[in-house]
Amino acid sequence: MATKYSPLSFPVFSSLLLILLATISSRAEAIKVHGFSSIKEATVHDIQLAFKQNQLTSRKLVELYLKQITRLNPVLKGVLEVNPDALYQADKADHERKFKAPGSLSALHGIPILLKDNIATKDKLNTTAGSYALLGSVVPRDAGVVTKLRKAGAIILGKASLSEWSYWRSNAAPSGWNARGGQGKNPYTLGYPGGSSSGSAISVAANMAAVSIGTETDGSILSPSSKNLVVGIKPTVGLTSRAGVIPISQRQDSVGPICRTVADAVYVLDAIAGIDHNDNATIQTSRYIPKGGYAQFLNSDGLRGKRLGIVRAFYNFGNDTIISRTVEQHLKTLRQRGAILVDNLEIANIFRDVYSSSSEDTALSAEFKKYINAYLKELVSSPVRSLTDLIAFNKKNSKLERLDTYGQDLFITAEATNGFGNAEKAALKNLAKLTREGFVTLMTKNKLDALVTPRSDVSPILAIGGFPGVIVPAGFDSHKVPFGLCFGGLKGSEPKLIEIAYGFEQATKIRKPPTFKT
Ligand SMILES: *[C@@H]1O[C@H](CO)[C@@H](O)[C@H](O)[C@H]1NC(C)=O
Ligand SMILES: *[C@@H]1O[C@H](CO)[C@@H](O)[C@H](O)[C@H]1NC(C)=O
Ligand SMILES: *[C@@H]1O[C@H](CO)[C@@H](O)[C@H](O)[C@H]1NC(C)=O
Repeated sequence: MATKYSPLSFPVFSSLLLILLATISSRAEAIKVHGFSSIKEATVHDIQLAFKQNQLTSRKLVELYLKQITRLNPVLKGVLEVNPDALYQADKADHERKFKAPGSLSALHGIPILLKDNIATKDKLNTTAGSYALLGSVVPRDAGVVTKLRKAGAIILGKASLSEWSYWRSNAAPSGWNARGGQGKNPYTLGYPGGSSSGSAISVAANMAAVSIGTETDGSILSPSSKNLVVGIKPTVGLTSRAGVIPISQRQDSVGPICRTVADAVYVLDAIAGIDHNDNATIQTSRYIPKGGYAQFLNSDGLRGKRLGIVRAFYNFGNDTIISRTVEQHLKTLRQRGAILVDNLEIANIFRDVYSSSSEDTALSAEFKKYINAYLKELVSSPVRSLTDLIAFNKKNSKLERLDTYGQDLFITAEATNGFGNAEKAALKNLAKLTREGFVTLMTKNKLDALVTPRSDVSPILAIGGFPGVIVPAGFDSHKVPFGLCFGGLKGSEPKLIEIAYGFEQATKIRKPPTFKT
């Protein structure tokens, strides 16, 4: 534009232009600051800023999310229950904000959060894993992560739907289905949402909650996050407490955030990570938590110097050239942002073995029986007290629980186990060997900071070793199904994974809200 003007007039023009630009930008700033007009894509940072500038209250915010739930949930079925006390908690947060020193409140103070329905709350909400069998059961206390969330001042907005029993009842049931809530839907396609933390991902994707929490045993955070174009963090096993979470396996279960942005997910992680004496694994694992927490790693230059491994076996998308092209473009971006791509890493047979081995199922089956029985036994009151009771309940209520359609094969297989015999011991030994000779060797030999894989296909490798992964929106495949790019690392590598994920997110900004019509 400047070339159109003579050099002499340019200074005059440019100073005029500067004034003009300054006016526009200060006006844009003013609009942004004063207009918390919509919850659409609102980040924790946006919300806290609006609180600070008296443009928004937690009560107003909860009302907006409840309105969105009323509008969208009949179609999407991402929310099982809303908390009758959410507005009371919002008023309490608004009151506290008035009297506490600025900066003394946590990032989650006054922020409405949705919890997967396998996370216990000792309040008016039920905790049922989506099953009628646990409706009316009374939990002994809040889950460890809920205690931490309440302490941080978060508002428990409600319970998110899920694949029933976190996908450990039946192989035949589709992702996102549970008896109480019905079939959850992907807001981008109105098809399957992935699972098992389906409702958590659906809800934040469709702006029905500010942030959410899911759980993962193998893929249950990473898969729905990928398919619903949101960010998921599956923490190192034991970084977050599993106490009060309806379990599958203490060896693999992990509780983590599902949110629209990496920063939001990191604020949630900061609130929930740490020691809980009802889950002893958190004591050992707490050594991984950096002083000052995880938010300090939200570094937009976080890709610089990071060594990222690429195993091409994960990059086979059939004839879907759209996803192939998008992924290659992302690899280019990672390189341009200073990452060192260690490409064409050999896929050892041992790596492939993770996918063909039955060891994980063998171990999980016996573990599920052990841990679900322990969970049910600890309830203050409950219609069911054991896996045996659960199976009987489903038979008795076969219509309600759709037993004819979906069966309960995983329950029955688990019920047939008898502790940790030779088969289970051999399975556990095999999983340890696959981890040691597979992922750990790959990462250490090549000095990798993360393994980069599209979608959530890497989840079994991370699952069996208790490793963390962060997934970030990456695009859409040829069927317009969203997918993410996943960064997996060794235990305790969350700081690096967050830097990498945030660097990628800031360089690409793929996330956008769904546009379906109701
Ligand atoms: C919990 O379940 C009971 C049915 O047993 C129901 O009456 C109640 O409304 C549920 N709680 C919430 C918060 O939806
Ligand atoms: C945690 O460890 C302590 C000491 O070993 C033990 O007494 C306690 O029962 C354990 N708690 C749980 C919840 O496993
Ligand atoms: C590959 O092409 C076939 C035939 O056109 C089609 O049916 C199939 O859905 C395509 N696969 C993918 C992954 O797009």
